Amino acid sequence: MIPDEVVEEVRQRADIVEVVGEVVSLKRAGKDYKGKCPFHEDRSPSFFVVPDKRMYHCFGCGAQGDVFRFLMERQGLGFLDAVRDLGGRYGVEIREVRRGEADDDPLRPHYEANAFARDFFRQSLADPELGARARTYLAERGIDEATQERFGLGYAPDDWRGLRTAAGRHGISDELLLEVGLLTTSERASEPYDRFRDRIIFPIESEVGRVVGFGGRILGVAGKNVPKYLNSPETPVYHKGSVLYALGWARNAIRKEGAALVTEGYMDVVALAASGIQHAVATLGTALTVEQARLLRRYTDHALLLFDSDEAGLRATFRGADVLLAAGVQPLVVTLPEGDDPDSLVRRVGAEGLARYLDDALDVVDRKLQLLAEHGYFESIDRTRSAVDKLMPTLRAAADPTLRDIYVAKVAEKTGVRRETLEDELRQSATGSGAGPGAGRGSGMGPPGPLPPGEPGSWSMPPAPGGSPTGSRPGFGPGSRPGSRSGGRAGDPRSRPLPSLGPERQLLLVLLRTRDWVERAAERIGPGEFRDPVDRAIFKILLDDPDFGELPPGLPPEVVRRIEELQGDPEELEHTQRVFDAAITRLLDRSFDHRREALMRELEAAPDPETKTRVAGEMQRLRRERPGRWNVARRGSPAAPSQEQERTDG
Ligand code: UTP
Ligand code: MN
Repeated sequence: MIPDEVVEEVRQRADIVEVVGEVVSLKRAGKDYKGKCPFHEDRSPSFFVVPDKRMYHCFGCGAQGDVFRFLMERQGLGFLDAVRDLGGRYGVEIREVRRGEADDDPLRPHYEANAFARDFFRQSLADPELGARARTYLAERGIDEATQERFGLGYAPDDWRGLRTAAGRHGISDELLLEVGLLTTSERASEPYDRFRDRIIFPIESEVGRVVGFGGRILGVAGKNVPKYLNSPETPVYHKGSVLYALGWARNAIRKEGAALVTEGYMDVVALAASGIQHAVATLGTALTVEQARLLRRYTDHALLLFDSDEAGLRATFRGADVLLAAGVQPLVVTLPEGDDPDSLVRRVGAEGLARYLDDALDVVDRKLQLLAEHGYFESIDRTRSAVDKLMPTLRAAADPTLRDIYVAKVAEKTGVRRETLEDELRQSATGSGAGPGAGRGSGMGPPGPLPPGEPGSWSMPPAPGGSPTGSRPGFGPGSRPGSRSGGRAGDPRSRPLPSLGPERQLLLVLLRTRDWVERAAERIGPGEFRDPVDRAIFKILLDDPDFGELPPGLPPEVVRRIEELQGDPEELEHTQRVFDAAITRLLDRSFDHRREALMRELEAAPDPETKTRVAGEMQRLRRERPGRWNVARRGSPAAPSQEQERTDG
């Protein structure tokens, strides 16, 4: 526990205007500050920060609190983490006293269960017999013992009840273990069982070092029904989108280096650390979120993106870059050799070899301009027009005015479009942001030429004018990069566009192929999340009998047809887990948005103060359920450019 007087000192010293100001753009209003409320869709600024009282208050949605509450609501931190965090930042030493009877953190048991599991996995790894194969595996991947220690790596034994039994002996209940995702259930099993079995374990810690979840990797290569990585589900303490793997370990190095390396996986971070590179974090296979970008921003304003160089990786890079820009972080793109990830590359060329790739990192706009030029975009007027369209979202995303100016200048120079014209267009599309349908992108001026293929803001390019004999896409590998060490190799043959189905169909596609995951899906969503009745019916069929072979008789013909369609879809899902997670997240986000919008309407129509208070309370609960999501849904908001631009044609 942290003594009250220490908490109070942190509250006094923390600059609430500064803390809130990182998220909300604030203007002076007398002694106070005002801005648009980050907790609801605010048209006029109704959110006030009152430094004298060290409080904030929104007259629109009723949100209010102190600097701790703000961090808790915005970043999903627990109270203690919020205090520690601000204490660190404003120079208050946090003395913790031994835990007394009074315990103000209802999630403490969850963290304790996770901490217990981490130790259990660590001991299994150290066990001479039990952990032997896992230690060999790690050694073969170049992860020395010191690095294993540093990241708290462990091993989950090949046992359905190893952890459950050990935890039970320490009084940790099945319910709690289920809540933190360490146990799971299935209709076919009579009792809950260990989720992680025969896997290398990567504990996932919050920035302040509490274990919030786990990732587990199989020891060998992935089989048909066994995913390579298994992660904790969303739990009361684990919100995937608001954690950056290894940030707690890396943050000092990030400060020192003045930049963070952003990778996709646990292994990348761990392998980089093993070769002495300490400032890397990972997004854990998801698209970089606004919250993750804001976490980074607390330590640096430069991020180097080290994603795969295939087309999907490139898309993730550019999407992540826009999110970073909106958070005030300048993104630089590192182009890795085709087929390499940071782990494989650093293993092959060592830290010094990798440093040369890092030195060659290009600012995101430079990299986009380079790719566009390579694809002949500046050779005709129409195509230049569409190149400008492709660049606009990035310019618009740049929150830092200086950086934005630099970008505008670069684009003007390269395209020959006058700066003023570009700025006009930026302004025009920015004014409509958040103002409802029809506003936002594209309403400002009718493009004279054909629109670029793909979604607005998406990053897909037609083949180069010269054409490519194989239909693969040159230009997406490093081979196309001038001066690239790997020379002019052809594009990555594996790369193909992500499936263009909406989240429902993507999820069904995954589930129909990987029936084992039905249960995992059922843990996170229900049929109610499916909008389309046919899709909903298919999900229910899967829930009833995940292993069905023959279709149950008597199904409506459109259901049968859709199942056949999906089963016949030749789309290969390369990153099944990623597709799965993304689809579920989108479904959840969508239903969250609906509930939130309904509450907003109710709030507006509330006839009396009691109703208003009740609805505001419900909104707060909802907010706690999906922290961070609140703001993301603002349509056209420059703070959240990419999340909403994804296809939603489901
Ligand atoms: P990768 O498939 O690129 O894995 O997924 P990796 O990091 O290179 O791992 P190694 O080298 O094969 O061990 C990148 C990230 O995507 C998530 C994980 O977070 C992984 O680190 N992922 C991937 C999953 O969650 N599940 C999967 O089945 C695959
Ligand atoms: Mn790898």
